[in-house]
Amino acid sequence: QWTPGHIIEDAVNRIREQVGRERVILGLSGGVDSSVAAALIQRAIGDQLVCVFVDNGLLRLDEGDQVMRTFAQNMGVNVIRVNAQDRFMTALEGVEDPERKRKIIGNLFVEIFEEESVRIEDATWLAQGTIYPDVIESAGAKTGKAHNIKSHHNVGGLPEHMKLKLLEPLRELFKDEVRAIGEELGLPHQMVYRHPFPGPGLGVRILGEVKKEYADILRRADAIYIEELYRTGHYDKISQAFAVFLPVRSVGVMGDGRTYEYVIALRAVETRDFMTAGWYPLPYAEMAHISGRIINEVKGVNRVVYDISSKPPATIEWE
Ligand code: XMP
Repeated sequence: QWTPGHIIEDAVNRIREQVGRERVILGLSGGVDSSVAAALIQRAIGDQLVCVFVDNGLLRLDEGDQVMRTFAQNMGVNVIRVNAQDRFMTALEGVEDPERKRKIIGNLFVEIFEEESVRIEDATWLAQGTIYPDVIESAGAKTGKAHNIKSHHNVGGLPEHMKLKLLEPLRELFKDEVRAIGEELGLPHQMVYRHPFPGPGLGVRILGEVKKEYADILRRADAIYIEELYRTGHYDKISQAFAVFLPVRSVGVMGDGRTYEYVIALRAVETRDFMTAGWYPLPYAEMAHISGRIINEVKGVNRVVYDISSKPPATIEWE
């Protein structure tokens, strides 16, 4: 019987054997897989590991600070935070097409990651949080989207001349094992059991052109939504929940005046494999409360709608 403790011990030994005294770099995204990989490698080789965390301005509310708190402050992991918000916003200016947005975000990530990593002297390894389902997926046929994503954190996307050896300590593990060892390594429960978040982040949850103003509105609406789902116990029954920013304005009333503001859509789905999904039947009372809070607390929003589309034919994300 393999326990999380055994898996960790075994992985730690293997990492030490493979890496020796060399240095490892890892792109930390705040997602479960890269987080657990970082914690595990840190356990094995301490500060021979250097993590690069690129804040692209498309993260959730306070996410950048949370990542730094968890890893740098609490766990003593060596993390370089790159504040690249402006670069991403500039690169996305005027771009409306979802696939072009994905490419721009993915390419810029690789570019910035490379700039940082060439400065880390004598790094010879690139660590990735590849897990077993990713390995299977890349062996078979893949959908355009899934493929793009993986390539975004993939060595395949990094320039040849970097010539880094690949370290993938989670390669043989399933998601539930990854979560279990993450908790055992001391990562916060909420981080380890978080819903998946796409690589392009809020970039594909702001429909059409991405602007900082929209991202700020969306972050605040999304944080209220997720906070309420935790508070009411729905979060863990839902596979993925998030808010979407719709860049259309509709008329409303507030006090004696009319408002003309944006729309937030709420999405929550239940799914086993993310290939098909059903919308989650959130009780009306919770919907009413969440909608009321978002409209009252988030300036710029006067209307909230709930997405009742299944996948297929809709996708989980709106872009
Ligand atoms: P869709 O929207 O295609 O999404 O039903 C299925 C799952 O994949 C995630 N997703 C992405 N993840 N980069 C990612 O890392 C992407 O570009 C991307 N697009 C979709 C989505 O959040 C859902 O979990």
